[in-house]
Amino acid sequence: MRSSNTKRLVEPNTTLYPVPVVLIACGVGDSINVFSLNRIASCNAEPPMISISVRPQRASHDLIDKTRSFSVNIPWPEMEVVSNFVGTTSMRDLDKWEHVALSPVEAQMVSAPLIDECPVNLECQVLEKLTLPSHSLFVAQVIAIHADEDVLNDRHEVDYQLVKGGLTYKAGQVRERPVENFRPKELLIKAQEWQPK
Ligand SMILES: Cc1cc2nc3c(=O)[nH]c(=O)nc-3n(C[C@H](O)[C@H](O)[C@H](O)COP(=O)(O)O)c2cc1C
Repeated sequence: MRSSNTKRLVEPNTTLYPVPVVLIACGVGDSINVFSLNRIASCNAEPPMISISVRPQRASHDLIDKTRSFSVNIPWPEMEVVSNFVGTTSMRDLDKWEHVALSPVEAQMVSAPLIDECPVNLECQVLEKLTLPSHSLFVAQVIAIHADEDVLNDRHEVDYQLVKGGLTYKAGQVRERPVENFRPKELLIKAQEWQPK
């Protein structure tokens, strides 16, 4: 076998981009929250299971850990600015629900709320938690899916073309943490301007 000497060695990362960005809602009663997440994967087919990776530093981490539930909410691409806002602010500092046009609604099977403005909501029950060096990997069963009629195909499956592809994370374009020129006030004003259709 010849050695590959034409490619440059670059710093390793989880370089599978683009990946979806979803809004995770979690918690119960008065203590509910929403944040953005791109470390999500389908990990089992029967029953349907997904995994999400959450840093222990996130306020949401403990809510998910305690209630063992969360919902995955697929945003419209137009919700990017809202996603950036809830993905760069913490419930420790403000009630995010009060600042942007996102409405928590009751799920049917789990304690975590769903986000009404998102066209697709997955109710997830946590089955396993794996502690990794920087993140906790929560493995969860998808126990119910709610979807707007107009994003379903003839077989009653969610058609992601109809969700306009959802929102995606592209390395170098969207950051998990505030970037150098992060201006929370400007972001908040833009996020508040977004209104559901
Ligand atoms: C596009 C995007 C993707 C993100 N992906 C993740 C992720 O996969 N895991 C994670 O723990 N945090 C992720 N974050 C960061 C959290 O959303 C962010 O730290 C948030 O402020 C946590 O809120 P909380 O403290 O209220 O729980 C992401 C943020 C953005 C903007």
